[in-house]
Formats: sequence, C-alpha cells, structure tokens
Amino acid sequence: MHTFLHAADIGPLDLALSEAAAIKQDRYRYEALGRHKTALLIFFNNSLRTRLSTQKAARNLGLDVVVLDVNQGAWKLETERGVVMDGDKSEHLLEAVPVMAQYCDLIGVRTFAGLTDRDADYAENILSQFIRYSGRPVFSMESATAHPLQAFADLITIEEHKRKPRPKVVLTWAPHPRALPQAVPNSFAEWMRAADVDLVVTHPEGYELDPLFVGDARVEYDQRRAFEGADFVYAKNWSCPGVTNPADYGKVLSKDMDWTVDAAKMALTNDAAFMHCLPVRRNMIVTDDVIESPRSLVIPEAANREISATVVIKRMLESL
Ligand code: CP
Repeated sequence: MHTFLHAADIGPLDLALSEAAAIKQDRYRYEALGRHKTALLIFFNNSLRTRLSTQKAARNLGLDVVVLDVNQGAWKLETERGVVMDGDKSEHLLEAVPVMAQYCDLIGVRTFAGLTDRDADYAENILSQFIRYSGRPVFSMESATAHPLQAFADLITIEEHKRKPRPKVVLTWAPHPRALPQAVPNSFAEWMRAADVDLVVTHPEGYELDPLFVGDARVEYDQRRAFEGADFVYAKNWSCPGVTNPADYGKVLSKDMDWTVDAAKMALTNDAAFMHCLPVRRNMIVTDDVIESPRSLVIPEAANREISATVVIKRMLESL
C-alpha cells in the first residue's frame, strides 16, 4: 500500500478487520518491520488522538518517529504554485516535501479544509503534493475531505461491539458553534458503505454529503425516525458540503439544538451504542448523560486509533 486515503486503499475490509483483531492481541508482533526506519508525522493543525495514537502505532512496529508541527517551529509553508512569495511564508511545499522525504521512509500528513474553496479542498491540494513529490508512502492522518484512520478505527469498534451480523448504523449531524470540515462524516459514510452494515444518514436539509463518499446511502431528514431501531448512533457536526448549493460551502446553516443527541432520542433506538470521534462539544453534540452512559463507545473508539494506524503503517512497511 503506497497511499492511504480511501477505504479502497486497504483492500478487502474483512481481511483488514482480521488483521486488526490479531494485532490487538499482540501489537508488538511486527516490531522488526520498522527497524532502522523512520516515520515522519506532519501536522498542519492541532491533534490529540491522531498525534498520540499514530506515534504509538509506529513504535509498535519498531519505527523511529519524527513529529513536525508545520506551524510551530518550521518555516511557514506556501502551498500554491505561482504565488509571489513576498508575504510571511518563507518556504514552498515544492521544496519542503522532497527535503522532508530525505529523512524518513514513510510520511503521515494531517492537513485541514480551508472551507472557503470547495474545489481546492476536494482536490486535496496539500496531501496530493506530498504523494506526488515525496517519493514515499503517504498516509492521511486526516485531510481536507477524509479521515480514514478514524473511520477504520470506528469500523473496528463496531465489529467488536455489534450484536447482530448486519447492524443498523446511523450517522447523525449535530449542532456545533463553529464551521467544521466534512472529513469525518465523509470517511465514516464511505467505510460503512464498504462494510456489511445498514447505513442511514440523517441531517438537516442543505447538509447533504458529497456523493463520492455517501453514494446511495439512505438519507432521512427526520432524525427521530432515523434513530428508530438503530444499533449504533454516530454523531458528528459538519459544515455545509455545498452539494446542493456550492455558494454555501463551509457555512454553518444551522445550530438547531433539537438535533443534539439526548437520552430521549437514544430511547428510540435498539439500545444503540453511542459513538463520536472526539473531541466533542458536550451538550451541543451530545448530552452528558448519553456520552457518560455504559453504551458510550467514545473511549474504545479512541483506543482503536492505535490499532487502525498499526495495520496501515504495517501494510506500508511491507510495501517498501
Ligand atoms: N479524532 C481525532 O482525529 O482527534 P484529534 O483531532 O485529536 O487527532
């Protein structure tokens, strides 16, 4: 595996899930794979889970790890070609990427969506330059439009906790004070479509996800109806994807607190487990009692970030 951005990159999901289960039993089994090799983890924005879990995964595989926060301690990077660099950006990504590649064997990149230019975000301009100019395997640690390590961890968590072969999984929009990217819901929808689950997506009108990720998944605009009989409820806020109205891309169209996940709505489900990728705004996205309930899986999900990253980095090391 040379790049990791979409569900298809990892191949058959049943094999990936079996590998994840085996690694969880013995996470140091492949410690020799990374000996005398280095992983470079590059962050263009903040992170808690991805930063810690990916370092842990790389060390499970015997790798040396170098972490670079681009905006803290490195030169500010220009990412657009053709710009006259007379501002505060001292170095261009076109030099920085091949230089960084000299010091490592594989690269993880965390980028972000600008949320002003839909075409630029969905073209994955920054991640694409790492893939094109580094000559190294590159995996996404969340990009402008996708968060595959999170979605893989979410799938592992559902596999571990499902009570029937084909559970009903509801992806629900919930309110948030700020505009957030679509990366997590995009990848969650993509991975759930590839997995053996009954996926229902619920959100206010205008928040339709990009068909590239959501495909022909059932969309239900009545959140309460969507929750009926659900086995898993996955909550996440996202800003307007601009699918129905491109001018609204990245905007907050609603902060309707009637979409907050609370105990009354969870009572409509089939005793569903509650999921969220974290960080979460309590009592905006989900009430205290739901996230603290025994059916909340937010901590096991976060724990599985180490496992998903270990599988992905292992596959990349095997392809070197
Ligand atoms: N879920 C997730 O990616 O968390 P961080 O942004 O803290 O890495």
